[in-house]
Formats: sequence, structure tokens, C-alpha cells
Amino acid sequence: MKIAVVGATGLVGGVMLKVLEERNFPLDELLVVASERSVGKKMEFKGQPIEVISIPDAIKQKPDIALFSAGGSTSLEWAPKFAEVGTTVIDNSSAWRMDHSKKLVVPEINASSLTKDDKIIANPNCSTIQMVMALAPLHTKYDIKRIVVSTYQSVSGTGVKAVEQLENEISGVKGEMAYPYPIHKNAIPHCDVFEENGYTKEEMKLVRETQKILNDKTIAVTATAVRIPTAGGHSESVNVEFENDFDLNDVRKLLSETDGVTVQDNLDVNNYPMPIYANGKDDVFVGRIRRDGSQPNTLNLWVVSDNLRKGAATNTVQIAEYLVKNNLV
Ligand SMILES: NC(=O)c1ccc[n+]([C@@H]2O[C@H](COP(=O)([O-])OP(=O)(O)OC[C@H]3O[C@@H](n4cnc5c(N)ncnc54)[C@H](OP(=O)(O)O)[C@@H]3O)[C@@H](O)[C@H]2O)c1
Repeated sequence: MKIAVVGATGLVGGVMLKVLEERNFPLDELLVVASERSVGKKMEFKGQPIEVISIPDAIKQKPDIALFSAGGSTSLEWAPKFAEVGTTVIDNSSAWRMDHSKKLVVPEINASSLTKDDKIIANPNCSTIQMVMALAPLHTKYDIKRIVVSTYQSVSGTGVKAVEQLENEISGVKGEMAYPYPIHKNAIPHCDVFEENGYTKEEMKLVRETQKILNDKTIAVTATAVRIPTAGGHSESVNVEFENDFDLNDVRKLLSETDGVTVQDNLDVNNYPMPIYANGKDDVFVGRIRRDGSQPNTLNLWVVSDNLRKGAATNTVQIAEYLVKNNLV
């Protein structure tokens, strides 16, 4: 099993290497790939140095699987070229997510739809993954009608440059800006670019990707995505209206029995999810589970997860694990 990590020098790529190592992914050879700027640079995997190579060099070596986290344009250009030599690409960018011929996969929810013919598989957006992880089991049982979500997203969601902007601002150093405004001591209601409808692309990802993953176009979703000065871990306030009524204890039980979800909801001891504790972990944490008294069949949740792990690297590696386990590569 030959695996390529494309974008290995980036934030998500670095976590991918860590997750592959932690989970002891069954690989015989690892290729670490980045832009021409990084070719020749030394990285480390399982204590051994590995040299960064270019994308064309990686394609020549025909890896079985390529885990991509190198931005949308790199993916649009190069993922098909990997697929042509027989590599299965799992892509973290938004390039292929809404392409009708590509699957958008959260393994706990819809990996069973994958086949050997899926040569480019899309990994959903980080804020979508954590929300659908919490909502999929509830949708199956109570049938979601409408979701109102507000996000509180960490700077690591924007990449290396944004983490540096926050660090520079905290230490009073002038540097390059990843955002149009300071992020330290601020909250910026602007994640990704604006679309013509006045929503940001990040907000519309929450709408479109949720419907695609839950395979239900009738679910109404409206989102507000906000960047806040946390270093790692996205948080979300999720208000969800169901067709059917629910019992709060059943909701807690269902969520606590869901693989990859941890319920933290004991108000007596101030137990609720927070990014500083979710950071570095693979689970999606759910708490503040309560009924919305303002309308029937409606629930409020607070959902937190490490955007670089379950929101990106871990989900990608889990898809690769599923492919290997089920002989799909
Ligand atoms: N951060 C998150 O929470 C998150 C979550 C889900 C998905 N994603 C997606 O994952 C991707 C990477 O995000 P990131 O946060 O890791 O960004 P990042 O820290 O800026 O890293 C970008 C990576 O892509 C490589 N790259 C850029 N242009 C390239 C090119 N032309 N050819 C080959 N490699 C190229 C860079 O290599 P060099 O070091 O050589 O420049 C670097 O390894 C993006 O598509 C992003 O939308 C991010």
C-alpha cells in the first residue's frame, strides 16, 4: 500500500501524517508531496526522515491512495491526473464536493455507498462534518425539517497564515494578514468569500453539503459562520426542528451511543464541550442539549470538534481505512 499525502507541509497535511502514524495505517510506502517551494525539504514519519517531492514525481510513482489537502485549484488540476494512473484520491478541498459524480463522505454516515469506481472522493467541510455527525442519528429517528446553525470557528481552519496572524497579533508583531481585520480580541462574521446571495461560501457549504451527506434535499438549513480567536477547534450552536417530537433523555442516549460522538452535558459540574478540550481529539463533542421552548419539536445543541482532526485529517484517513478494509483500492 503506497500512500501520498499531497499538501503534507500544510496544517491539515501535518495532522494527516500524525493521524496515519497514530492509527498505524497499513502502509508500505509514504510519499510526502507539496509545492515546488517545499521540494527537497525534510519531514518526519515514524521517526524516519522523508523528503518532500513534487506532484508530478508522486504521480510517476502511482500511489494506491492520495490524501489531498493542497487547496481547491491544486485539486482540480491534479486529482484527475492521479486518478488516470489508478490512484484513489480523497480530497479535502471544496473542489469536488458538490460534483454530482463524486461522493461526499463521512464514514460513520455514508461510507457504504463507496465502490471501486470512486476514484475521486470528497471530504466534507470541517464545520459540516461535526454538525452532521451529531445530527445524522437524530435525523434517522426524528426526521429533520430545519437547521439554524451559527459557528464559532478557529483560525486553524484558514491554514498556516491565519495561525501566524493570530500569534503575531498576540505578541504585538506586525506581519502578513490572512483576514481583512485583526482577529485577536475580535470576531469576524466572514469565513471564506461572499457569494451573490450575501452568504459566505462557508455558510453555503453548511447548507448544500448537509443535504448531500444526509441525502435529503428537503432539509432547510440557514447558517452564520464567524471566525473567532481560538487556535484549534470549531464550535457550533445548532437549533434543529424535527418533523417528530423527541424525548430529551432519548436524544442524550442516542448521541452517547453514536460512534465518534461524545456527550458532555452535566450542568451540575459545568460539563459542556469547549474547543480547548476538543483540540487534539478525534471525537465530536455535544452538550447543552435542551428543548427550544419557542416552537414544537425543536432542539438546541452545542457541538465542538477539532477542525483539523475529525473536520479534516481524521475523516480522510478513516475513508482510506474503509477503502483498504473493504478491498476498494
Ligand atoms: N484547516 C482546516 O481546518 C481545513 C479543514 C478542512 C479542509 N481544509 C482544506 O484543506 C486544504 C489545505 O488546508 P490547510 O489549512 O492545511 O492549508 P495550509 O496550511 O495553507 O497548507 C496548504 C498546503 O498545500 C500545499 N500547496 C499549495 N499550493 C500547492 C501546489 N500548487 N502544489 C502542491 N502543493 C501545494 C502547500 O505546500 P507548500 O508548503 O509547499 O506551500 C501546503 O502543504 C484546503 O483546501 C482547505 O480548504 C482545511
